[in-house]
Amino acid sequence: KDLYGAERLNSQGADLSDPTIVGPLLTGMAAAWSKPWTGGPIVGGLTPAGNGRPIVDPSNNARLVGHVVEATAEDVERALSLASAAHHAWSARPVTERADCLTRAADLMERDRDELLALLTREAGKVLPDAIAELREAVDFCRYYATRACADFQPMVMPGPTGERNELRLTGRGVFVCISPWNFPLAIFAGQVAAALVAGNTVIAKPAEQTPLIAAAMVKLLLEAGVPPNVLHLLPGDGATVGGRLVGDRRVAGVAFTGSTETAHLINRTLATRGGAIVPFIAETGGQNAMLVDNSALPEQVVDDVVTSAFRSAGQRCSALRVLFVQDGIAPKVIEMLKGAAAELRLGDPALLSTDVGPVIDGEALSILQQHVERMKREAVTLFEGKLPYGCANGSFLAPHAFEITSLDQLPREVFGPVLHVIRFKGDKLDAMLDAIEATGYGLTLGIHTRIDRTARKIAERMPVGNIYINRNMIGAVVGVQPFGGEGLSGTGPKAGGPRYLARFAAERTLTINT
Ligand code: NAD
Ligand code: ALA
Repeated sequence: KDLYGAERLNSQGADLSDPTIVGPLLTGMAAAWSKPWTGGPIVGGLTPAGNGRPIVDPSNNARLVGHVVEATAEDVERALSLASAAHHAWSARPVTERADCLTRAADLMERDRDELLALLTREAGKVLPDAIAELREAVDFCRYYATRACADFQPMVMPGPTGERNELRLTGRGVFVCISPWNFPLAIFAGQVAAALVAGNTVIAKPAEQTPLIAAAMVKLLLEAGVPPNVLHLLPGDGATVGGRLVGDRRVAGVAFTGSTETAHLINRTLATRGGAIVPFIAETGGQNAMLVDNSALPEQVVDDVVTSAFRSAGQRCSALRVLFVQDGIAPKVIEMLKGAAAELRLGDPALLSTDVGPVIDGEALSILQQHVERMKREAVTLFEGKLPYGCANGSFLAPHAFEITSLDQLPREVFGPVLHVIRFKGDKLDAMLDAIEATGYGLTLGIHTRIDRTARKIAERMPVGNIYINRNMIGAVVGVQPFGGEGLSGTGPKAGGPRYLARFAAERTLTINT
């Protein structure tokens, strides 16, 4: 049962067409925007004083959101030492007590809904429907992992000979480092930390440089929910410096990472060369996600799902559609309709209900995307180029674009923004297209649009991709419903929001008793 006593696991959304819901929501968010937000290291429950680095709103670079104090080498050392010392007692606590902390944190997130949504819109540039979906995902992660842990962390009695009792138990490993990206600064941050904590680990969390304020808000809620101050620490700061120091320390018993494939490779290398124990590395990384559309598909549905998958969240989802493969018979109609649908998207302030597409995260991301767009304009056919409306000049906005290319070789890297690439194919080339997608080495999400059941089944069975969506959009995996995570260059598994996630954060121990 959820907070509202309903027979469902997942949290409830907000009906944004209902003025009695939207009115108080926007009033609450407006009050939160005017707060002077501060963030910084939280080590042993304490935050150092100081003004720190300014965090600006990506939709308006002149608008200050708050300040963050970055972690020093001393903060890293202190967090490691406190977390190491606290592990045994935390791991020995009954799993139900650890789970209660997560359940309370989920309730507190719902209590502080307006503040968290305000931070998601202003610090991360999320449009309101995305911010609400992200808050729900964070709440769902906490409740789901709490429930799963209570079931999974009971001793499992194994069959064995008479006169002997054999038990298999899951137990915390030690200090877990959780490193998260800016594109889900609440849900992924909270999901990693909640899983590591409930599995009996102490945690040091390293949020993305762009989104430390929301991470600080979440850590404060977890501490308020009953997680002891020596068990959970927050270290905002530069990835290579703070993250690198943590990962390279032999006291760290496991790393949960979500971010780019390049950073995952770096961390993997550090873990392999630092010496000491061989520890688990859970990596959830990028994708070169494709959707395949054959001539039997329904163009209206395809276009709706392509627009959602490629442009929602300004294309800044790891799951987002990057390359649309469309069969030649249906291609002209789909492309024509796509141009019309994309032209309808409204860019602007993410806090306005009328906005469909918000900013990209910062000037650096914008510049990388603009360079890609310029290259595409030279090397590909421009299908459409969205225009920036008045009012976007002060922010990091990129209007949606689509380019027709001929080969995946034209896309050596993940393009993390609202840029769609289209490849037309002939029916007899379907297998060659699948080979090309597989050859990228990524395997995060894949969309299939066809009304031929046999085709859908054939593609889904052969492709080494973590999340495959048939005849719908390919974003927004729901906790406990669509366990999420990729293969190959896209990640190690286990799947976030799935029934096997927690086990990877734990050690297994067998107890044999001669009775
Ligand atoms: P990123 O790799 O640049 O940074 C991710 C985190 O790693 C940040 O906290 C950063 O500070 C830290 N970091 C950077 N260098 C480090 C180092 N040397 N050692 C330790 N930590 C280091 O990624 P990003 O730009 O923040 O996020 C976008 C990427 O994340 C995209 O590639 C996207 O596909 C991926 N992503 C994947 C998933 C998934 O579930 N598969 C979900 C969200 C985002
Ligand atoms: N879990 C997120 C999605 O499915 C990334 O879009």
